[in-house]
Amino acid sequence: MTQNTLRFPVPGGIHVGIIMDGNGRWAHERQRPRSVGHRRGARAVRQVVEAAPDFGIGTLTLFAFSSDNWRRPGPEVRTLFRLFRTYLRAETEKCVREGVRLRVIGRRDRLPDDLLGAIDEAEAATHAGRKLFLRVALDYSARASILEAASRSNGALRDEDDFAAILGDVIHDAGPAPDLDLLIRTGGEQRLSDFLLWEAAYAELYFSPRHWPDFGPDGLGEAVEEFHRRERRFGRVTAEGNPAAEAIRREAAG
Ligand code: IPE
Ligand code: IPE
Ligand code: MG
Repeated sequence: MTQNTLRFPVPGGIHVGIIMDGNGRWAHERQRPRSVGHRRGARAVRQVVEAAPDFGIGTLTLFAFSSDNWRRPGPEVRTLFRLFRTYLRAETEKCVREGVRLRVIGRRDRLPDDLLGAIDEAEAATHAGRKLFLRVALDYSARASILEAASRSNGALRDEDDFAAILGDVIHDAGPAPDLDLLIRTGGEQRLSDFLLWEAAYAELYFSPRHWPDFGPDGLGEAVEEFHRRERRFGRVTAEGNPAAEAIRREAAG
């Protein structure tokens, strides 16, 4: 069983994944177009990324565009891609300054060239960041990645770590796909929508009714606090004797 909380790229930090949902409804409630919700969503990403290391987060994976989001109207998809490009270009320097390593996970073959350029530049420039590993999931489908990793593995797998390594390659990650500690979904829905299905095997689930633009650092802090109150047993009777759980408890105790 892989419980790799201790082998994250940033030692000691927990891995949090967020399904950033509710931008459209946030805008709708204010009689504004969905694009305004997405812009406010991008602002919320900046604030949450800035706050993440203070909450003991070592790896943060944000679901920004699912492979199923191609089903949305063309203008909305184009607005989102424009926002991603602007975000990457505007934030790269800050990421370098703050020690944030950025990586985009998912498929690359369907993204527009200008966005691909911004991704390459951001990843290269932030390569040495060690304070926070920020993974942004774009054109990402967990099922499609698992399927692709399974077909690439050719039946030659020794254990789950082997599979995680191939999965990391498939999604263009910097290393093996890291297990998820805490999975947050904003916007009130309680589903996974094809996000990190392999990595979330033992993730704690946290659902917030707040729409993503309103979640912010406060929402993240509340979610992490709740996470530290949970007892992760990984199949055991108690959490005792479990190095991953003990590390998390030590972290919580400061
Ligand atoms: C999340 O907000 C952003 C993306 C999926 C790109 P939504 O756009 O899904 O907002 P709702 O769910 O319609 O409110
Ligand atoms: C999941 O949200 C994808 C992202 C947040 C990027 P969706 O809004 O696409 O999910 P469903 O359609 O409600 O399941
Ligand atoms: Mg949605």
